[in-house]
Amino acid sequence: MSPLVPILLGLMTTFVVGSAAVTTEIIEPIRASGDEVALIFVPGAFQRAENYREIAKIFQEASNLRMWVALTGGYNRLLVSLAELPGAIDGAINALKQAGMVSENYIGIGHSLGGLMLGQYARNSTLKAIILMGSYVTYGLSNYRIPVLTLAGELDGRVRITKFVDDFENIFGDVSQSKEPIYRTPIVNIKGTNHMQFQSGPTPPTSVTNDLKPDLTDAEAHKTIGQYVNNFATATFSSEASEVRDAQKELENMVLESSKRFQPLKDMKALQAKDNSCPWAITSQQHFGEPHADAFEIKNYILELPMFVKSTPSFIWGVMSVTINNTAFIEFEDDYMRRPDVKQSPKEISLKLKSRDAIFEELSFMPEPEPSCRALNELARDAALNSATDAEKQRYKSRGRPIVFEDDILTTSEDDWNSTPLKTWEDSAGLHVQSVALVTAIDADELRGMHYCRVMAPYRALEWIIIDSLRD
Ligand SMILES: *[C@@H]1O[C@H](CO)[C@@H](O)[C@H](O)[C@H]1NC(C)=O
Ligand SMILES: *[C@@H]1O[C@H](CO)[C@@H](O)[C@H](O)[C@H]1NC(C)=O
Repeated sequence: MSPLVPILLGLMTTFVVGSAAVTTEIIEPIRASGDEVALIFVPGAFQRAENYREIAKIFQEASNLRMWVALTGGYNRLLVSLAELPGAIDGAINALKQAGMVSENYIGIGHSLGGLMLGQYARNSTLKAIILMGSYVTYGLSNYRIPVLTLAGELDGRVRITKFVDDFENIFGDVSQSKEPIYRTPIVNIKGTNHMQFQSGPTPPTSVTNDLKPDLTDAEAHKTIGQYVNNFATATFSSEASEVRDAQKELENMVLESSKRFQPLKDMKALQAKDNSCPWAITSQQHFGEPHADAFEIKNYILELPMFVKSTPSFIWGVMSVTINNTAFIEFEDDYMRRPDVKQSPKEISLKLKSRDAIFEELSFMPEPEPSCRALNELARDAALNSATDAEKQRYKSRGRPIVFEDDILTTSEDDWNSTPLKTWEDSAGLHVQSVALVTAIDADELRGMHYCRVMAPYRALEWIIIDSLRD
């Protein structure tokens, strides 16, 4: 293939290596000494190598390491693929060696699609660590072979912050034992930044990128990201014990600070399922039992659809107490596991509850008006708002479109209820949510005293508040 063709661009040298298409641009270190590392950039979809040139220089400025940069580019159709990536990384490593890099501390750094590919490729490669920007390891971070820094923008409109919740929970579920996971696989929720701020090229309008409007300027975002990259690179590769300790301390702070924004998401997610039971079904059944909710116990089962369709809630009398035995079915969006742009919270929760009428008759209380499923959606919104951080509340108040609660669709038979999904739609007024109810009389021929509701999950309400409500 073509010989090395160096094109001088100030301090930068461009080599054409490997296939005719994939190229590497080398940016030399700005420090004369120090531990050598290289950041090998893998661009996002439709991003060119040069879109990372300025941000790479900011990363160099932020670090005391002798940091080389290799910008890979020229991928077929501007889409990084697993077919081209090995050649691209080999080419970058060759170019780094040619340019004078001696150590083998190669860090792959991928944005968006580039990060997804990098995460798969680096399971077995010469890379010593990877950094994923607005991207994630597809099959989870636990047991990944090399250190991984995951950088997630709080206001990323393409790779939702909710995509990182499972990994954050799994990795930092119990760091009281050891801080190793924080140093090896830190996950950072970067306050106020979006998806396109992980690059420094021209930013297409958010209407094109489906991104959210950031709170930070690009300059502020790049500086912050540079500090995070430096802390990870230093903690992983520095030979100075004191620098490693300081960087580790910073990583701890980064993860701790991130947990402030991950906590509400974890909390709302926990309301939908815990040990095969749906805490939100219990809250909902209690609501239907007000003001006598303390007169009974509740046991809920999350079921698969065929079992759920067959199930019916019932009263179970013990010696001293009565328990309402009820069921829930949780439905997610199609493809939500594979697609980071799809809402990660449930699409709807179906609840089979006992009606207030039935409870009060069973327990010999005076009748009270039957509540609505709509009231449960309002409770979900309140729970989500209460859990949100102050900044999230403020942003929602000033820029977010509200949730508009519509009156329940009243179905008249079980079949009808089974086949009518929760209705949601968006317009300039906000997100409209309309529950589907089936209420049966306590003296009905069959299926007595039921109140079935298809409702919005509290996690969905929070996802709306922090992400989708902010779209234009
Ligand atoms: C890793 O890659 C090397 C070289 O391509 C190959 O020989 C080896 O079998 C791979 N190992 C695994 C676990 O895939
Ligand atoms: C409670 O409901 C579950 C799910 O429908 C069912 O499997 C179980 O048998 C019920 N328990 C009692 C005591 O009826």
